[in-house]
Amino acid sequence: MSRPEAKAFPFPVGIDALSAHVPDTFLSLDDLAEARGVPPEKISVGLGSFEMAVTPPWEDTVTIAANAAEKPLRLGQVDPGEIGLLVVGTETAVDHAKPVATFLHELLGLPSACRTFEVKHACYGGTAGVTLAADWVRSPSSRGRKALVVAADIARYDLGSSAEFTQGAGAAAMVISRDPRLLEIDPRGGTFTRNVYDFWRPLDRREALVDGKFSIDCYLDALSGATADFAAAHDLADTSSLLDRFEAMLYHTPFPKMAMKAHQRFAEATGRAADAADTARRLVEPWLAMSRRVGNSYTASLYLGLAWLASTGGRLDGREISLFSYGSGCCAEFFTGRFAPGSQEIGRTIDAAGLLARRSRLSVEEYERFSRAKPGESPGAGPSSGFFLARLKDDRRLYERAGATGAVAA
Ligand code: CAA
Repeated sequence: MSRPEAKAFPFPVGIDALSAHVPDTFLSLDDLAEARGVPPEKISVGLGSFEMAVTPPWEDTVTIAANAAEKPLRLGQVDPGEIGLLVVGTETAVDHAKPVATFLHELLGLPSACRTFEVKHACYGGTAGVTLAADWVRSPSSRGRKALVVAADIARYDLGSSAEFTQGAGAAAMVISRDPRLLEIDPRGGTFTRNVYDFWRPLDRREALVDGKFSIDCYLDALSGATADFAAAHDLADTSSLLDRFEAMLYHTPFPKMAMKAHQRFAEATGRAADAADTARRLVEPWLAMSRRVGNSYTASLYLGLAWLASTGGRLDGREISLFSYGSGCCAEFFTGRFAPGSQEIGRTIDAAGLLARRSRLSVEEYERFSRAKPGESPGAGPSSGFFLARLKDDRRLYERAGATGAVAA
């Protein structure tokens, strides 16, 4: 079937550069399944997951965010002096008051004339940052400057719980600008909000609490709601052609099977249930590779999917994609973007496959030791490159760069 041509966007604002970071270490979920006495196919087939990123104690949300965000600066894709807004979307902040964004501001050498803050809404925080930054770029207050949005998280559940298999970590950094070189974002996204207790993390807990089955229902209901609002925003009385419009459909992916369930729901909600399996193979499955091997990265998960697509998807110029963001609690957004001319050049610099290939595998014992370690402890070899958490002093976090000397942030 031929795909209708994507319409021109009223405002060419979107993602100018995209970079990603995942921790250097990972755990095979077959190994974890064996240790927990769970059939391995429950994880590989039932959840669709093979590995999960494990954050060593010298990495935290600040370092994974900074290690992602410094890449577009290092590659010269953006001049730090052009950044007038820095937003970090995260639900695993390092302090109740001091935002991750202030650490990043110093580590990245951004100008003092920069609005800097953190956004929390579970896994939706990154998308909240992206849409807010795009609106800021369109507004007079940006004065032609660019925004840097970083989505970064470390997903932790109790050891031995059923949710343990859906942990992970990662960060995605996006430069948002006019005339973006990667992806133009259509400002007419569809949104949905409802107050639910599906996943939460009380202030005194490091590990999240979750009502697993209910969270899946909440996610799917939010997808239906956001899709209906998207149809209203685009004056679409009939949504059945949407499945033919997109080159790829990216869904927030706490575990890969969730994206497949989401696509099934989307196909049903748009009157195309019979085409769900066929279109999922083409539009959804190929872009789940990061999720299968990194696990859940909360706010970053959707954008690691985009990183994989942009990095490995070939020439995508002019192609339109959909993105669905879900944050427990809950808020969701279904929105679309169109790849810019020459986007492959930026996509190539992401090197998503290289990020996965460079990691080293932990044993279950090492993973458990890392999980129980205090932030800043070094019960292993230590970092080989990039920013790392050197130590805590009087409850203040001190960061350094591997190979350099002296704390660079306090
Ligand atoms: N072989 C193959 N498949 C098997 C199997 C076997 N031996 N045994 C079970 N399965 C299948 C099950 O049939 C099931 O598949 P379906 O859902 O398609 O029926 C799948 O494996 C999982 O089995 P269970 O439902 O029994 O798994 P569980 O009780 O261990 O819980 C979970 C799974 C709810 C995802 C749990 O890991 C969890 O709570 N994770 C955290 C919450 C989460 O990720 N929620 C997602 C929506 S909320 C969100 O998206 C925000 C966020 O990021 C947290």
